[in-house]
Amino acid sequence: MIGAVPVTVVPLAEVVVVENESAAGELVARSIVALIAAKPDAVLGLATGLTALPIYRALARTLADNLVDVSRVRGFALDEYVGLPAGHPGSYRSVITREVVEPLGLTPTNVHVPDGDLAGIQTAALNYEQALLESGGVDVQILGIGRTGHLGFNEPGSSFGSITRIKTLTEKTRADNARFFDSPGDVPLHCITQGIRTILRARHLVVLAFGESKADAIAAAIEGPITASQPGSAIQFHPHVTVVVDEAAASKLANLAYYKHAWLHKPPWQGL
Ligand code: F6R
Repeated sequence: MIGAVPVTVVPLAEVVVVENESAAGELVARSIVALIAAKPDAVLGLATGLTALPIYRALARTLADNLVDVSRVRGFALDEYVGLPAGHPGSYRSVITREVVEPLGLTPTNVHVPDGDLAGIQTAALNYEQALLESGGVDVQILGIGRTGHLGFNEPGSSFGSITRIKTLTEKTRADNARFFDSPGDVPLHCITQGIRTILRARHLVVLAFGESKADAIAAAIEGPITASQPGSAIQFHPHVTVVVDEAAASKLANLAYYKHAWLHKPPWQGL
């Protein structure tokens, strides 16, 4: 170990180019199942959004096939909208219940989502940050990336020192997320999100992106300057990052040939 980092970890983002979303799902699911086998009360960091779905689907299948006991697995969602009525199908609490807790068979009380209810909004962010700290930290954080470059709902300009707090969504993100609501105007303006610093505390970051619309954000995150204007670029500070992308999302990476070469020759003893 070097500090908290196992020596098997390569201290740079490892970029894995997969054929499609289901190959990404299989790859990441295998690694999470190995984590749960080694640590039955592992803490999973859960992204919502379309990108993460293939991971949860593959994970549900792999866990069931291998009869893995998940009763002690814990989970923390990245973010939530502020002010949606309880049970709204677009709320991240509903999404996490529907797409993660139920299909994976997790214990519902072990899975946490920031509380976006207006009644407790003054204290919700710090309570969530505290709960994350008390859990001992996230073992593997699944992350999508927005077209704005956001991680969680940390929009451009978010401080790399930020912790869980209330943020205002950009109009681009509201437009992107309108597909989950009846009309674009229904997408809340505000959210509660883990901060960049909160996210970077996770022991392993797995960043996923599929499709050409994510190519700029992925290139900026991995190879661009480290800047709050591209929140994704904060991953360059992290010692253990795995980026799983399809060819389209990888298409603007300058060092793509090298990443493929490194993956092809990855030592078999090195996990994800
Ligand atoms: C979701 C989240 C967001 C999404 C991002 C990509 O919890 O925090 O950062 O990961 O907006 O969304 P999709 O996957 O729908 O393109």
